Amino acid sequence: MTVRTEHEADAEPASLVSFIDLNPETEDFLEAVLNGLSCDQKELPCKFFYDERGSRLFDQICDLEEYYPTRTEIGILQDRLGEIAELIGRGAHLVELGSGASVKIRTLLNALPDLAQYTAVDISKEFLLKSAETLAKDYPDLDVAAVCADYTSEFRVPAPRRQDARNVAFFPGSTIGNFSPDEAEIFLRGILETLGTGSGLLIGVDLKKDPSVLHAAYNDAAGLTTEFNLNLLTRVNRELGANFDLSAFTHNAVYLEDEGRIEMHLVSSVAQTVSVGGKSFKFSVGEYINTEISCKYRVDEFRDLCRRAGYVPVASWTDSDSLFSVHYFTAD
Ligand code: AVI
Repeated sequence: MTVRTEHEADAEPASLVSFIDLNPETEDFLEAVLNGLSCDQKELPCKFFYDERGSRLFDQICDLEEYYPTRTEIGILQDRLGEIAELIGRGAHLVELGSGASVKIRTLLNALPDLAQYTAVDISKEFLLKSAETLAKDYPDLDVAAVCADYTSEFRVPAPRRQDARNVAFFPGSTIGNFSPDEAEIFLRGILETLGTGSGLLIGVDLKKDPSVLHAAYNDAAGLTTEFNLNLLTRVNRELGANFDLSAFTHNAVYLEDEGRIEMHLVSSVAQTVSVGGKSFKFSVGEYINTEISCKYRVDEFRDLCRRAGYVPVASWTDSDSLFSVHYFTAD
């Protein structure tokens, strides 16, 4: 968890974006897979879903009728834009964590004409640079910076030219739900330490709801979530020379009501042995690999978690069907 030396991207000709490469260490995929499959309850880290095909499938999932989070969050942001802009205030430095294609940020940028700087933080360098460049072209009066870093490890952001600018983190999509509550608390405390006292946090969080709605969202009829989940095994086969038989695993997402979380499973339909990196892993019929957790919160539960992480709740908004929430916190 140490920050390495930064350096300007030398290959970028006359870039509109100031770029810092913190050279995020790509976690050893083989080691993570071997560790996960060696656990009593087999697991694989969900961050490995997002190879090229996985990222494309996730974008398609976000457009599904059953997968309400994306459109609902955008709806809340649009409906509450005036209040959000007022809370963020003038001259802030907006820092987006896991900026991806920088789509949702445009809704905010249109309402925040006096930002000191927008900084996109993402682990995927090519994608990050491309989207930051496009954004800089579309918003010529905005200072745009890009930081290639693993935001779940230690990172830092470049100071805007306006030195008194307050940092405001933007963490949409309920990605916070892919951490356990304890991990989420540690992660959010780390963000506070990085962005400093006086900073703000605008965050999207999926809400607890009727389990049938959650079940449909994570077991969609078109089978995209099945493909997304199984693609992890395709990736392990391709990149690590493993021999998972995809036809011998099925996708199943379950909602554990007591824990308030979705778990995505890949269930072995036969007794089988799979080899990965020279090691063998036995599966019995019905045994599963846990590939993702997606925690759901009530508004008060999430505000309490953030209080424990050092934040002060300022405002929370939900849609009219109470599907999703967006919160604004400060760190005083
Ligand atoms: C990225 N993350 C917030 C998504 C979620 O809902 O937990 C990932 C996802 N998994 C299945 N569908 C979407």
